[in-house]
Amino acid sequence: MEKTKITICTGTACYVLGGANLLELEDFLPDELKSKVEVVGSACLGMCKNASPDSKPPFVKVGNEVIHSATVQKIISYILQR
Ligand code: FES
Repeated sequence: MEKTKITICTGTACYVLGGANLLELEDFLPDELKSKVEVVGSACLGMCKNASPDSKPPFVKVGNEVIHSATVQKIISYILQR
């Protein structure tokens, strides 16, 4: 099975709003997910420019889907729902 790519934005806006912590995602992944995802960091994904109260940094992509106001828990729940 192909791994799901998790792209964590480490651009400035995302980084200061929590993106830095998200890089530790791999340490928090449940065992059953560890082999199924690939976590990578990325420069600004370009989404902070259109940020709104409903769509705030930090941004993370799970495959092609974008998660805003991302937290480790939010990302994990999202992957589990897929
Ligand atoms: S800094 Fe994350 S989308 Fe721009």
